[in-house]
Amino acid sequence: MPLVIAIDGPAASGKGTLAKRLAHHYGLPHLDTGLLYRAVALLMLDAGVSLDDTDQAARTAGRLVADQLADPRLRERAMGEAASRVSSVPGVRAALLSWQRKFAGGEAGAVLDGRDIGTVICPDARVKLFITASPEERARRRHRELAGRGEETTLAAILADIRARDARDSSRSAAPLKAAEDAVRLDTTELDAEEAFAAARAVVDRAR
Ligand code: C5P
Repeated sequence: MPLVIAIDGPAASGKGTLAKRLAHHYGLPHLDTGLLYRAVALLMLDAGVSLDDTDQAARTAGRLVADQLADPRLRERAMGEAASRVSSVPGVRAALLSWQRKFAGGEAGAVLDGRDIGTVICPDARVKLFITASPEERARRRHRELAGRGEETTLAAILADIRARDARDSSRSAAPLKAAEDAVRLDTTELDAEEAFAAARAVVDRAR
């Protein structure tokens, strides 16, 4: 059975870095599923369509192609917020579901990270990790990351963003952010990237 690793967690929990490193370590393809929602939002903004237009959001999600996931603007802070808005539209989630399942269903196995991978997209994944960290620590990490890319923001603004996104992602009715019952929880507040990677590897190796 191909090895599928599902990684979920809130914004800036470190799940993306972890997913990338695990994919590299186990030789698996990796999909950052947040990029799909970010791309839907970006395509709508570029087309001058309101993010509140749920029909357009679902249609845009249905037309998404892989090339559109490479746009560097997808990583900007404002796009995380915009993605969070379109991601609560059930039609958007439905359109992106088969995309993600196809990616996860390849013979090589896969690593996917997002909010609902263990609960909705890959309920049968061999390994499920739920990554958390305190909002303050996540804000510090995101601040460092954005500063490294030359995007100027204050720590307070990022913390406010993170709290708003946590609230929206956890309270929506369509596939809310929550740990699958069989997920292993990993709190990385006190761990550096190396320690988090080692802890995650130990979980995967136990399940292989
Ligand atoms: O992970 P990232 O910050 O790029 O995700 C952006 C937004 O996309 C999240 O705040 C969330 O609302 C949404 N998302 C989602 N389901 C996923 C991945 C991301 O709803 N699997």
